[in-house]
This record gives sequence, C-alpha cells and structure tokens, in this order.
Amino acid sequence: MDTEVLTRAERAVPASDDPLWWRSAVIYQVYVRSFADGNGDGTGDLAGVRARLGYLKDLGVDAIWFNPWYPSPMADGGYDVQDYRDIDPRFGTLEEAELLIQDALALGIRTIIDVVPNHISDQHPWFQAALAAGPGSPERERFWFHPGKGENGDEIPTHWVSSFQGETWTRTTNPDGTPGEWYLHMFTPEQPDLNWNHPDVRREHEDILRFWFDRGVAGVRIDSAALLIKDPDLPEVGEKQGPGQHPTEDRDELHDVYRAWRAIADSYPGTRVLVGEIWVPDIVRFTNYLRPDEMHTAFNFDFLARPWGAASFRESIEQTLAAHAPVGAPSTWVLSNHDVTRPVTRYGREDTAFAFLKKRFGVPTDPELGLHRARAAALLVAALPGSLYIYQGDELGLPEVEDLPRELIQDPMHYRSGGIDPGRDGCRVPLPWSGDAAPFGFSPGRARTWLPQPEAWRTLTVQAQAADPGSTLNLYRRLLHLRRQLPELGDGPLEWWDALPSGAASAPDVLAFRRGERFACLVNTGDASVPLPPDASVLLSSTPLDESGRLPGNAAAWLRMDAAASRSTDSTPRITTTEPPASRG
Ligand code: NOJ
Repeated sequence: MDTEVLTRAERAVPASDDPLWWRSAVIYQVYVRSFADGNGDGTGDLAGVRARLGYLKDLGVDAIWFNPWYPSPMADGGYDVQDYRDIDPRFGTLEEAELLIQDALALGIRTIIDVVPNHISDQHPWFQAALAAGPGSPERERFWFHPGKGENGDEIPTHWVSSFQGETWTRTTNPDGTPGEWYLHMFTPEQPDLNWNHPDVRREHEDILRFWFDRGVAGVRIDSAALLIKDPDLPEVGEKQGPGQHPTEDRDELHDVYRAWRAIADSYPGTRVLVGEIWVPDIVRFTNYLRPDEMHTAFNFDFLARPWGAASFRESIEQTLAAHAPVGAPSTWVLSNHDVTRPVTRYGREDTAFAFLKKRFGVPTDPELGLHRARAAALLVAALPGSLYIYQGDELGLPEVEDLPRELIQDPMHYRSGGIDPGRDGCRVPLPWSGDAAPFGFSPGRARTWLPQPEAWRTLTVQAQAADPGSTLNLYRRLLHLRRQLPELGDGPLEWWDALPSGAASAPDVLAFRRGERFACLVNTGDASVPLPPDASVLLSSTPLDESGRLPGNAAAWLRMDAAASRSTDSTPRITTTEPPASRG
C-alpha cells in the first residue's frame, strides 16, 4: 500500500470502531440496478444510492452489501465481470463509488461489495486473450479449456450440470473456422470459469481485494464461494465418492484460498470481513468455512429454504446454532435476496419452502397471508443470535412480481430453463419510492424503468408507508431500532422457552425463545390465536393482538417480561400487556 491509499484505508474505520461489529450487524442488500435512479435513465445507479443514504440511516442498518457494480455486459445481472477495478458506466464512476463509501461511513454505515471469483465475463481481457491465443497457450491455462471427447473432439468433456440448468461446456471456433476446444462455465457461456490452480488467478483476486479494502470497503461477499476449485481429472459427478470428492463443489483445497484472503483482510485497520455465498447441504462442511482463520460468516440458506412452521424453523435454528458454536462464528439470518422468491409471495403459497428447481409461473399465492407471515418472520430473524440480512424492498413488504411481460425478462435462468422457470427478475423490480404512478419516484421524471413496476405498488411506496403507522416499513424501522437498543439481541445466547406457563402459548405451532432474562420472542405459525404469557408486555407485534389480548395466527411478538415474573411458572394466564401493539396488520 502506498502512503496515499493507506490514509484512505485508515479513514475507512468509523470513529467508534467495534471490532466485532459484524457479529450482530444488520446488513441491507442493495441491488444497484433497482434501488434508485439518479440520472433518469430508468436504471438504478450510485447517484441514486447516495441520495437515499438518509433512508437507510433512518431504517437503522449497519452496513450495505452492494451486488456487483463493475463494468459488465450484464449477461447475468453483473455477475459477469469485465473489469473488477471499475464501476459500470450505467451505475457511475469509481470516484463516485469512493465518495459513496465515505458518505455512508460518515453516517455510520459500512460498505460490503460483491466479489465474483469463480468466473469472469467472456468480454474480460483475459478471456479474449485466451480465445485469440489458441490451444496450448499460457493464456488458456487461466481457464478450463479442454479438447472434446471422441474422435473429432465433438463430445462434451463432462456432463456436469449448470446451476442455471443445461450444459457447462461450450465449444470454441478456431481462427480458421474449424471447431476448437471446449471451455467450462458453471453458469452461462458468457461466464467462463477461472482455473484456481493457476497462480495468476490467485494473485489477481488477492490484488482485487486489496484494491477495494484500500478504498474503504469493510467487507466482501464472495459469490459462488464453494465452486472455485475443480477436480482436474474431470470425473463425472459421483465417479469419486466421499466428502470433498465432488468434481466442482466444496472441495477441500478451497480452504487455502480463503485462509489467504483472511490474512489480507486481517492486515487492514478495522475489521474487514469475508462473507461467503455457500450452498453446501452438509452443515458441518458449511461451517468449516467459518473456522477462525477463514471467512467471518456465510449466508444461512438452510433457514431461508425452510417451509413456514414452528417445527421446521426450530429444527433449522437448532442445527444452525449447534454447528456454528464449535467454530465460534455467528450465524446469519436471511429471508431473501436477489435470487429467491420474495417472502410475501413464498409464504402465501401452499408449498412455502424454497427451491430453485421448483420455480414455475402461475403458482397461486395468498398475498395477505404471505404478508402476515413475512412480517412475523422479520421479527423472528431479527431476534435470533447473529447478523441479519435484509434484501431491498422486503422492508416494504414487496411481493414477487409474477406477471412481467415475458419479452422483458432478462434473467438467464429463465431462458436456460426453456422458459419454464420464471427466473429471478420478479424480485429485482425497481423500488417504489413515492407518488401514484410508475416510476414511483425511482427515477426523476417519467423514465421507463428497466423492469416495469406494478400499478398496485402505489400503496407500497416509501412515501405512502412512512405515513402509515401500521405499515411494514414502520414495523421494520421499529424492530431495527429496538434491536439496536436491546443489548440481549444480536450475537449471544438463546434459550428455548419450552416451559411456557400453562395457559400461555405452548402449542406445537408456537416457537418461543428468550434472549437474556427479560426478552422473549413468540412466533405463532398456526392459524388460531394463542394467549401470551402472563406478565409479558408487548414491545412489538407483527399483527395487532386481538380483542382478548391474544396473539393472532401467523404473527410474532417481542415481549418484555416482568422482572419478578421472568422465571415464573405461574399458571394464571394474566395478560399484562401494558403497551398498545406497535403495529397494525
Ligand atoms: C450467485 C449470485 O447470487 C447469482 O445472482 C449469480 O447468478 C450466480 N452466483 C453466478 O454468479
């Protein structure tokens, strides 16, 4: 680091720096393209984010995670990076990004950026050079170029299946027009996979980390973090058995990569964090990435994918906490992101679990039920130990947009499924900020947004919800402010509250736990109302209590227990709710 950037890196540490900030942080995910548009072209940008930082401050977040903001042909919404050290001109400039990082920090908000190490854009100079240099060249060694099988090399090298469905190899054409080698892409053909056994690849990414840490980012979210290393023997899936033997996923060699990254993060002032996007079903192998010299945290997708219900939530929470404890890492809690169906829509369906391969057009949903549950789930996850991720628009209770005109859908998941999977654009529609008609304040003027917003969003704008004490936005504001005030929340122990005083909620549909002596969270995942424990005051509820002071179905409450009675097993169902419910349905 030279002296000039060192100064900048030091400035990246907030005045009151807590080295453990990441263990309890509330992190808001900004999908730049759809957050706010500053220049009126219908696409979100950094100017739009800078103008709305006050909104995020008021909401009460500790950090922002930005989806990739680099120059990109957008074959996969920016996860096809052409230059890791610049900003896409549609979003702004590098200078603006630096100012944004500093502006946010001045409000006490840290910045986490997205790094994409598994693959790059086919327009990246490295891949273009590899294509031009031809078979056997050093330029091709940075990727997975391979001759095809069969006499003429026209058989695919392996039958590995893409996370976006379909094949993972594309054949190149030689300069003389003859068919050439094949190259590997675990996602689209526009996203060639890098060869992580090559020292250039490792060096380049370590340097990219330094580039952004020097500019004050507080952490990186690591895209497809468990996919980087491939088995060079190119076996088919299942040919080699046993943990760590999958040819493309969760290979043991990955841990060295992240140990090297951790050493870089730790060499900076303040705590710079590594957050993994890790889809690994075995929870112990998952938490292996969170050992003290590897990543700080990783997204907890197990919880996200669970169906609505006390038993399934409890099982996930217990397994998560038990697996994280031995490595000393906090869990994360994530209800959604830019890849998955919005909770309001998902929780209103017959089948409330999430799975990519299940996504279809036209699955019926009950949006009202979904909203009640999504609000309850917000209280639940905000009360659990660890850090919390909020995907933009969830604080407005936005539903998935399921009727986008097909010709406007851009997501490759839609196309690669042959049009069966609606894709992920339905959760990426530009946010509604104000006014009665599209673009709802997203863009200045009357710009046409890159994806159309539903007319019905006029009641869901920030402006409309700010004026309504019972809105989902005000629920989120209250819960995040309370979470900040209550020292029991965030990182720390959780105690299941199974011995609820009789007469209080102890049905199988109820999830109840305590944080500290006096805080309790009660989630009623059933349809019938349940009584609250005696001596409880309601700090916040996701739906108002009914006329008898009971917690309705599909609702959650944060409770303050009377000090004297906090350990009581008093069987009298006295309801001593002293505060009015803080929110309305
Ligand atoms: C995970 C990202 O969240 C997703 O949006 C992207 O398509 C894939 N990784 C590939 O980069």
